[in-house]
Amino acid sequence: MSEGTGAGATLWMPEQISSGAVEADFAWNVVLWVATVLFALVMGAMIYLVWRYRRRPGHGPASAAEAPDHSGKVELLWTAAPTLIVIVLFFVGFRGFLGLSVAPAEAAEINVTAERWLWTFSYPEGMTSVNELRVPVGKPVKLVMSSKDVIHSFFVPELRVKRDVLPGRYTTVWFEPTKTGEWDLLCTEYCGTGHSAMLAKLVVQEPKAYDEWLQSGGQEEGVPAAEQGKRLFSKMACNTCHTIDGAASTGPTLKGLFGHEVKLANGERVEADENYLRESITNPAGKVVQGYQPVMPVFKGLLNQAQLDALIAYVKSLSGEGGEGGKKGEGQ
Ligand code: CUA
Repeated sequence: MSEGTGAGATLWMPEQISSGAVEADFAWNVVLWVATVLFALVMGAMIYLVWRYRRRPGHGPASAAEAPDHSGKVELLWTAAPTLIVIVLFFVGFRGFLGLSVAPAEAAEINVTAERWLWTFSYPEGMTSVNELRVPVGKPVKLVMSSKDVIHSFFVPELRVKRDVLPGRYTTVWFEPTKTGEWDLLCTEYCGTGHSAMLAKLVVQEPKAYDEWLQSGGQEEGVPAAEQGKRLFSKMACNTCHTIDGAASTGPTLKGLFGHEVKLANGERVEADENYLRESITNPAGKVVQGYQPVMPVFKGLLNQAQLDALIAYVKSLSGEGGEGGKKGEGQ
């Protein structure tokens, strides 16, 4: 919150980049120092007493009659002191826990979808990003998370925020970033062979830059649409099922597709134009190509208009000559 706390990487902890990190570290430090002081006291007393009452000539063990009797004072002290310490720890911990569990009402909600092995983030403004979570600095953000397959776990060490992402139900987590920059976002639940590669970036921006990014629809300036589409093609993992070299895979190849006729499973023939591509991405079960199974994930809502355009431009480029495909361009 204050300028000083934003920086604080300590000997024990990574950098603090959220208001919650300050609270979490405070609770940690209280426990750490209470434990350290008690450890020093107990060990010091033990070493001193071992030395003080060591066996030596002229100092035999006391007889039962000389030994001190029960002391009510001492007993009260060693009951009251730990109780007090535990109560303090409880309040420090519980306060921090409440702060972490209850998101402020004004928090912006971002949906997080985890699947093997990528992260998808959907923003209230309609924007979607893959493997990159963007948030504005100084504003609370609430993540509503679910998984499409197995258990994953959302973790950004610098936020001091970590939460399992489960299939079939939502989990939430919130934070308020206090610093702009880029940090790693990790999956910390073993989820298969790609687990270690399930990495994303947390990008904290000034609100103005963040708004511009939201408005841009994810388009990168100065990058041709087909090139953006190419990047999306691998980012969205389209390349797991579609080749661009003419070979058949789980799905049909995209080489030479645009502008050509496609034979559908129901016997119909359609031309692969912009609208066909658009429908095939947003509602893949609508027109299934003959010889293939309707297994493609639905990308409706995952891609905005600009991203759809970019992907279509890329598919066009795979047919050469900007989509002419050997036919008269009917759709213009
Ligand atoms: Cu997802 Cu590990």
